[in-house]
Amino acid sequence: MANLCVNIDHIATLRQARRECDPDPVEAAVLVELAGAQGITVHLREDRRHIQDRDVELLRQVVKTKLNLEMAATYEMVEIAERIKPDECTMVPEKREELTTEGGLDVSKQVTRLKPVIKRLNQTGIAVSLFVDPKAAQIKAAAEAGAQFVELHTGCYAQAKGEDKVCEEFDKLVKAACLAREKGLRVNAGHGLTYRNVRLVAELAGVEDLNIGHNIIARASLVGLDEAVRDMLALVQ
Ligand code: PXP
Repeated sequence: MANLCVNIDHIATLRQARRECDPDPVEAAVLVELAGAQGITVHLREDRRHIQDRDVELLRQVVKTKLNLEMAATYEMVEIAERIKPDECTMVPEKREELTTEGGLDVSKQVTRLKPVIKRLNQTGIAVSLFVDPKAAQIKAAAEAGAQFVELHTGCYAQAKGEDKVCEEFDKLVKAACLAREKGLRVNAGHGLTYRNVRLVAELAGVEDLNIGHNIIARASLVGLDEAVRDMLALVQ
């Protein structure tokens, strides 16, 4: 049974649209946990377009389940993570102009750079996950870099149209999850997951956490956060 970790970045997106204090992602995190989710995920971006440093600081004090901090592998972010001590850090690629994280991290090209970053975070007691495309080379590189988890990028599966394409993309996730476990990595998954496509991924053998944001917050804007989280939990579990 997979865990649901809700990405609450878009609560902060709405707040930042007016640079006011509402809605507050910290208040949202409390409601998400009360609805039964197993974790809270936030992405502190270099440009601070949604989540702010203050949010991460307060979330660390308030979140009782699991706090997963998505971040680029930069010195600034590593220093913040060492100070805040989230339960887990997920390394993602970051481009200023993108609307959301587009592809997985190219771990195979930066094993040497990532190794000391992962070691530093591990020494602070933080588990490290690398957000990767479901490709063998990336999984092997993540194991070589010393990560504890990979988060499999489910974007291509989520975007796939037609049964054949969906099966083809899902098969890549199955193979990647299997290889990751063989290599001693724990497996999370996320990106683009919705109430319509989540079930298959939730049933993927060995997958622990599903990080889901946009679709839950979109539904929450219509039916409320509590109902939106419970609806997703019912599908995931
Ligand atoms: N996982 C990672 C690594 C992400 O960067 C994101 C988007 O912030 C998500 C999961 C959640 O994606 P979505 O908002 O499409 O559910």
